[in-house]
Amino acid sequence: MSQNIAIIGSKGAIGKGFVDFYKKQNPSNSILSLSRKNKEADDEFFIDIEDEGSVCDAADLCSKKGPFDKIIIATGILHGVDFSPEKTLKNLNKENMMKVFSINTLGPALVARYFIPLMKKESPSILGFLSARVGSISDNQLGGWYSYRASKAALNMIIKTLSIEVARNNKNAVIVGLHPGTVESNLSNPFQGNVPDGKLFSPEHSVTQMAEVMNKLTPSDSGNCFAWDGKRIEF
Ligand SMILES: NC(=O)c1ccc[n+]([C@@H]2O[C@H](COP(=O)([O-])OP(=O)(O)OC[C@H]3O[C@@H](n4cnc5c(N)ncnc54)[C@H](OP(=O)(O)O)[C@@H]3O)[C@@H](O)[C@H]2O)c1
Repeated sequence: MSQNIAIIGSKGAIGKGFVDFYKKQNPSNSILSLSRKNKEADDEFFIDIEDEGSVCDAADLCSKKGPFDKIIIATGILHGVDFSPEKTLKNLNKENMMKVFSINTLGPALVARYFIPLMKKESPSILGFLSARVGSISDNQLGGWYSYRASKAALNMIIKTLSIEVARNNKNAVIVGLHPGTVESNLSNPFQGNVPDGKLFSPEHSVTQMAEVMNKLTPSDSGNCFAWDGKRIEF
């Protein structure tokens, strides 16, 4: 059966991976691509998740194509042009930290605010946020990466809180975090050196795994975060 899908952050490695995967999976799928790199077109809209007006405008355009079976938020940042994730407390910098939170936590929350009304209600629909295992507080063994870890932990709380509210008027909604594994991308590029053999995934592999995981999710899974292998990640 064909699906109606919106991918936010569709020009990133994982976002593009999802666009390609769902196009290939069923050529009848309707796939909307949303990105800062897009010009307005029939299946492509501009979105800057740091700008609430842009998120609202994009949702308005998408509403004409909805409702959606899947909305996937594949935006994110780990390092900037002039900063890296903190190795130690001495690297903490307010501006950099605010940038990471703005993109990893506040942006996805705004997307939820404007896009959740576009989720299908009469059949199961999924809102998937790209989160990260390092956002798990209980799994934090190594320390470091203060801003990224905290921004994803806060994102996980937003996901949990959304799942409670949305279940009250959309019993079919599945709202989850997704951990893609370590995936070749601009985001992971500077940190790929320590990845064990066979553990650096291509976007295609990671996305195929996550799509399979999403296929098995039901509304009772809402509010949790799942890794590429289907295992639930403890917050
Ligand atoms: N790669 C990994 O190993 C890994 C591991 C764990 C979790 N993740 C998560 O997976 C997600 C996707 O990462 P990726 O590896 O695909 O990285 P990526 O290739 O760098 O893609 C990130 C995307 O986020 C978009 N973005 C950043 N700020 C934005 C904004 N203000 N408005 C709209 N789009 C914005 C970028 O858009 P532009 O193209 O316009 O710059 C880029 O396309 C992130 O949430 C990341 O934390 C990745």
